[in-house]
Amino acid sequence: MKFFIDTANLEQIKEAQDLGVLDGVTTNPSLMAKEGISGDQNVIDHYKAICAIVDGDVSAEVISTDFENIIKEGEALAKLDPKIVVKVPMIKDGVKAIKYFSSKGIRTNCTLIFSSGQALLAAKAGATYVSPFLGRLDDIGTDGLQLIEDIRLIFDNYGYATEILAASIRGPLHIINCAKLGADVMTGPLSAILGLLKHPLTDSGLATFLADHKKAAEAKA
Ligand code: G3P
Repeated sequence: MKFFIDTANLEQIKEAQDLGVLDGVTTNPSLMAKEGISGDQNVIDHYKAICAIVDGDVSAEVISTDFENIIKEGEALAKLDPKIVVKVPMIKDGVKAIKYFSSKGIRTNCTLIFSSGQALLAAKAGATYVSPFLGRLDDIGTDGLQLIEDIRLIFDNYGYATEILAASIRGPLHIINCAKLGADVMTGPLSAILGLLKHPLTDSGLATFLADHKKAAEAKA
């Protein structure tokens, strides 16, 4: 399973990269705004800064919603760095744009996926990734994980190469459940990734090991 971090915060991206388990980064306009990044050139510079930190894919989202401008924006983003994956919303012009990008060898991440039908359409258009937002589905009382399971079944039935990028991950349990269901990638906050580290028996076990080591050393001295 690939691990992406869902942030535009350079410190957090560096921390995840230093951990040695990071396969990529996803961003969106809200995450860029959260870091105070605005204006075309600043956004471009920020994507370049992210690409300089990580080895893997970096999703950069278009803000246009009509075919022509999605293409213009997406082509400019793709030229920034070979790591860039153009993130396109699941709208009619977005599907057309994904088909176009796919024919030009530009990789795409179809975002804002909330149904298996949307994922199927994006895969047919040739999306590299589809991003089902499981946390936001959970938030409105529906089963986000069921969507991951359904998309996995559909893609496997037809052998689609499109990767399932489980997005809107809220914590470690989401990651574990997505891994059980065969999501290819998960993207979540640093806290969700670091949450996988934690177990009280690990902490108490380590404390005992270190105390026993110290006692034995003191007894010998
Ligand atoms: O980047 C897309 C997605 O992961 C957003 O997550 O937490 O805003 O629902 P969230």
